[in-house]
Amino acid sequence: MLNGKRILLGVTGGIAAYKSPLLVREFVKAGAEVQVVMTRSAAQFVTPLALATVSKREVVSEMFPRPDDPNSTSWTKHIDLGMWADIMLVAPATAHTLARIAHGFADDMLTSLALALRCPLALAPAMDVDMFLNKTTQQNIDILKESGCFVIDPEEGELASGLVGPGRLPEIDRLVAFVDGILEKIHRDLSGKSILVTAGPTQEPIDPVRYIGNRSSGKMGFAIANAAALRGAEVTLVSGPVYLRTPRSVRRIDVSTAEEMNTAVHLEFENVDAVIMSAAVADYTVANPVNKKIKRETMPGDELTLTLKKNPDILKSLGEKKQNRVLVGFALETDDGIKNAKEKLRRKNLDLIVLNNPNEPGAGFNSDTNVVTFLTPAGQAEHLPLMSKFDVANRILDRVKSTLTWLT
Ligand code: PMT
Repeated sequence: MLNGKRILLGVTGGIAAYKSPLLVREFVKAGAEVQVVMTRSAAQFVTPLALATVSKREVVSEMFPRPDDPNSTSWTKHIDLGMWADIMLVAPATAHTLARIAHGFADDMLTSLALALRCPLALAPAMDVDMFLNKTTQQNIDILKESGCFVIDPEEGELASGLVGPGRLPEIDRLVAFVDGILEKIHRDLSGKSILVTAGPTQEPIDPVRYIGNRSSGKMGFAIANAAALRGAEVTLVSGPVYLRTPRSVRRIDVSTAEEMNTAVHLEFENVDAVIMSAAVADYTVANPVNKKIKRETMPGDELTLTLKKNPDILKSLGEKKQNRVLVGFALETDDGIKNAKEKLRRKNLDLIVLNNPNEPGAGFNSDTNVVTFLTPAGQAEHLPLMSKFDVANRILDRVKSTLTWLT
């Protein structure tokens, strides 16, 4: 995968930076073009000259052009390089740089680039064991993973301080395989396409305090949005209330009720090539929600009766006006899965339905994995084994892409 690829290698100021010329050499040997971007502290551990020599490119480090440097001609270099690259790897990534990227700092060339990037961002944390295990560093790594960055765990062993534990930069061949694996998954094959994704639950209010909801965490929909953005699509994510961070380069619209989701989705629909509805939309809402908290003391008897009314079937209404758009729905079924999913596929005029069962281990709500079956109008059924929601997302997007190609 590396042959002909353009790699931005971010080098930050940790002792493992001394290995970075070897990493550049391996990427170059595999046929990649490498542009090194260093922080100032990295230059304490490895010289820009060594990195420029092995990459055969001037190392970039300063944000602003210097009059005495013929190569630093443009202050928009962070944007230009962000568009040039197929992938950016920061190795080693220090605790400080992880924190800066996680929180959106753009205080030098490396972090500005990480923010401006349109391609996958991969990170190889390397530092002393206590810094790595520190809660703040771990939280920053979680933030980065949630927002769609790829993170390779450091190796365990003896560290420069003499302490032993996790924190060592993985061996060069593992780093090369890590980047290769990401490039294999992520092609910019959805550039120019616009995809609308829905995620999460809806909440139907009973009173200002209570609601009817469901167990959707949003993970499935956010994985689809992330994968589509990494593959170059322009992604709009309409999400019910969830505790997830927005993936990089994704436009997010937050809604609460099914009615709000319906309005948002229909507003966006005109401008998209495909819709993937993974949201768990409530089929019913409370007919007469009240605007004061219901108090048990003031309610007569032991029972409270709520009258529910049907919510709009969003996907069905999209199916009625879909024209040449691709429509993908999910079916969450505990029994008669195939039969019910086929029926939904037909009734909602879908190009693909993704069947999953919340009772199956590793599938459905809140897990990081899913077990799904694809069903198409032609009667095709493909059962996929247990895999990460990110991998399921890519398999769905492969189907979307081939249907889009077929339609045009
Ligand atoms: O969010 P996670 O925790 O990661 O969990 C993922 C998931 C289990 C929620 C997801 O994989 C999933 O199955 N989503 C669809 C849940 C659902 O509402 O299924 P359904 O069979 O009831 O609905 C069929 C389709 O119609 C769905 O695409 C749904 O978005 C859509 N629908 C449903 C009701 C409604 N009123 N309007 C709709 O558009």
